[in-house]
Parts: sequence; structure tokens; C-alpha cells
Amino acid sequence: MKRILITGALGQIGSELTMLLRDRYGTENVLATDIREAEGDLAAGPFELLDCTDGRKAAELVKSFQVDTIYHLAALLSAVAEAHPQKAWDVNMNGLYQILEVAREHGCAVFTPSSIGAFGPSTPPDNTPQDTIQRPSTMYGVTKVAGELLCDYYHRRFGVDTRGLRYPGIISYKTPPGGGTTDYAVEIYYEAIKQKKYTCFLKQGTRLDMMYMPDALKAAVDIMEADGSTLKHRNAFNVTAMSAAPEQFEAAIKKHIPEFSMDYEVDPMRQAIADSWPNSLDDSAAREEWGWRPEYDLESMTAEMLEALRKKPL
Ligand SMILES: NC(=O)c1ccc[n+]([C@@H]2O[C@H](COP(=O)([O-])OP(=O)(O)OC[C@H]3O[C@@H](n4cnc5c(N)ncnc54)[C@H](O)[C@@H]3O)[C@@H](O)[C@H]2O)c1
Repeated sequence: MKRILITGALGQIGSELTMLLRDRYGTENVLATDIREAEGDLAAGPFELLDCTDGRKAAELVKSFQVDTIYHLAALLSAVAEAHPQKAWDVNMNGLYQILEVAREHGCAVFTPSSIGAFGPSTPPDNTPQDTIQRPSTMYGVTKVAGELLCDYYHRRFGVDTRGLRYPGIISYKTPPGGGTTDYAVEIYYEAIKQKKYTCFLKQGTRLDMMYMPDALKAAVDIMEADGSTLKHRNAFNVTAMSAAPEQFEAAIKKHIPEFSMDYEVDPMRQAIADSWPNSLDDSAAREEWGWRPEYDLESMTAEMLEALRKKPL
């Protein structure tokens, strides 16, 4: 029986992962936490305020809720981290350290997402291998590589069952993204419905890996349910569903909304981050070690995103 604690549960991924885990393991077995109060569906199950840098409070909650698995999602994302590097170090590194310590003391398994941001300008950009050069040039990337290593260390040194994925840009329609470099690939769908036009902050030709939320959630559950003895790359599996540039999103949307148009106003900070990331990942290790296989491509995701946003009050 799983008893789960989720940090950062109100974010883009957490808000949907919490509901999926409650469906799967029972609402009463999933404790959602964040630094802000929950509303709506998320408030209908167990919820507590938790700053992930507060190891004492995290330990109290793990003890009182009898937690055996932690999904640690609290973090500052790439663009926010670049604007606030000192805070990003504290939340992303100290937060992870506190959670790993609690997991070590209380025998919990820990899921931690890394990111395509863990790569840098010297990484081979096409079909980026699972094991390769990681010299990121952003604070987000520095914390993500260090986080991968720290999770490996806790597994090797203390036997903590740490597992993780290098997520690409995640696209969804329920909760807005939290300030990443791939946010344009969410905004474009909202603006296609609202205005039938969009001004993109990355330039044409900027190819990045992306994934639709249902695949991201499936990956998080599948890796935590995988037989641990089959995992060689525990904490940093490359996973991807598509590699696409802004003009490919534009073309996919035009098939549904022919009058849709897009222009560009490049944000130098986010463009520089995107330019330092891979164009496309090789996710064969995830496919081989625990059966990863995405269900959505750009076309099927676009059809669902537009249909869902048409029904949503924007
Ligand atoms: N969304 C993506 O495209 C993407 C891509 C790659 C990796 N990731 C990783 O996935 C994880 C979740 O990302 P997300 O998109 O849901 O992020 P998000 O920004 O949408 O949500 C993060 C949540 O963490 C909370 N938070 C911030 N500081 C906190 C603290 N000190 N203690 C506890 N909670 C705190 C915020 O209130 C927010 O609800 C992160 O580790 C992120 O780096 C996300």
C-alpha cells in the first residue's frame, strides 16, 4: 500500500499528478503539500502547507501520515531561476537535500524530476545520449545536474530508493506553467483559442523536446512502479515524446484554426536558455529499462489541447 507525500503539488505537474495518484491509490493515501493554500479539487483530499526547505516539518508530516513514497516536485523553473538564482539554489538544492534526508531517516522512496535543462551548450544537441557531457550554463541546470548526482549518491550510499526523469517541456491545459523556457508551447494554444494569433518569445527554428501532460504523468507513475532491479539509470532518464520548433506548433494549430497566425518577439534571456539545451533527446535507456513509450505526438496533442481549451472559460 502506497502512502504518498507530494511537494509542490499545486504546480503545473503536481496539480494533475495529485489527482491521478489519488485515483490510483485512494484519496486518503495521498497528502498534497505546497507553500500556498489549495483550492478546488485539490483541497478535497489531504493537504498541508509545506516549504520543502523545512526538513523538520517535512519529517513531521512523513511520520504522522506514515509516508512511504515522496514525489518531490517543488522547484523554481528555468526562467524564474535565472531571474532569482540565489533563491533557486535554496529551493532546488536545499529543498532536495532536506527531502532526501527525511527519506533516508524514514525509509521513503523519492521521485525527483530533472530536466532537459540539465544539459548545456557543450552537450551533443541532436539525439542527446543518456550519458553525456553535462555542463549547463543556467542556475536551473546547475541545480538539476547536482540534484541528479545527489539522488544517485543517496541511493548508492544510503540505499534510498531514488528515481527520476529528465522531463522535456510539458504541455497541458489545466494549470498554467510556472515560468519555464518552453512555456510558449502552452501559451500558443491559449492564444490560438482566445485571439487566433500569438507572439512567440523563442525564434523560429528553436527545436526542443516536448511532452503532453498525460504522458508526463504516466512516466512518473511507471518509473516509481518499475522493478527497481532493472534500473541502471535511476535518477535521470531521458524521456521525450516529440522534438518541435515554434513554426511546427503553428502549422499543427492551423490544421484546426486556418486563420491562426504567429509572429516573433524574441526574449533574449529565454532564447539563450533554449539555445543551450538539446534539440532532441535519445530516450532509449528509459524504453529499455522500464518500458517507456509516449502515447501522444504533436498532432494528437494539438487536437486534444484545442478541444479542451474550447470548453474552458479563458
Ligand atoms: N513543467 C515543465 O515543463 C517541466 C520540465 C522539466 C522539469 N520540470 C520539473 O518538474 C517539477 C515540477 O514542475 P512544475 O512545472 O509543476 O513547476 P511549477 O512551477 O508549476 O510548480 C512548482 C510548485 O512548487 C511550489 N513551490 C515553490 N517553492 C516551494 C518551496 N520552497 N516549498 C514547497 N513548494 C514550493 C510552487 O508554489 C508551485 O506550486 C520541477 O522539479 C521542475 O523542475 C518541469
